[in-house]
Amino acid sequence: MAEMEKKPVPTPHIAAREGEIAETILLPGDPLRAKFIAETFFSDPKQFNSTRNMFGYTGTYQGKRISVMGTGMGCASMGIYSYELINFYGCKNLIRIGTAGAMVPEVHVRDLVFGMGACSTSNYARLFNLPGDYSLIANFDLLRKGVEAAEKRNLTYHVGNILSSDMFYNPDMPKTGVSFDRMGVLAVEMESAALYSNAAYGGARALTMLTISDSLVTGEATSAEERQTSFTDMMEVALDVASTL
Ligand code: HPA
Repeated sequence: MAEMEKKPVPTPHIAAREGEIAETILLPGDPLRAKFIAETFFSDPKQFNSTRNMFGYTGTYQGKRISVMGTGMGCASMGIYSYELINFYGCKNLIRIGTAGAMVPEVHVRDLVFGMGACSTSNYARLFNLPGDYSLIANFDLLRKGVEAAEKRNLTYHVGNILSSDMFYNPDMPKTGVSFDRMGVLAVEMESAALYSNAAYGGARALTMLTISDSLVTGEATSAEERQTSFTDMMEVALDVASTL
């Protein structure tokens, strides 16, 4: 493999200087969630980015230096930020914390889903031009630690395949061929295929954990308050994992 050249920082998208971002970073889609996590859980948080309002912070949690930054929505946005974090800033452990829609009846709103693998309708992974289909998977050590933390906190969780879709407003979940839920895919979100691709390419470790905000099966949705509570539970699971790395 070609030697990865050292990339210059700051980048057009992240204003941090070298060394300002920790090796372990939590990645919510919403930058205001990054701000909330930094202000709620970190001691001595320092903001390292506000370019495009994609807020990023580094602080300390249970003695461990951890960063948090928003990624925006979709594989294109996650693709840019995670690539730069891994290849420009040297991030080694990237934990996405997001929301998703349930695709199967056994997954309910407020449940936690760990993305052991990521299927996708996005073209992101194909653009690496591999000579076949690459299996986009989570790092096993992060996944194992996530499951242990969820069990310790008595949360309802599922582990399996998720779908990173490029389309939120899908007018026609596939009517021809086999659908992803028929293949056991648990939930739909929009970013993990890019995260898992970039982690594989850059030799980093990645995990997606998702709280279910709505169900495509039952039409059930969470209230804003329920969403916040289940999201906060998930933040704590992610911080449990991050603090052991
Ligand atoms: N589709 C895609 N992403 C999502 C959804 C959904 O239904 N719910 C939460 N994130």
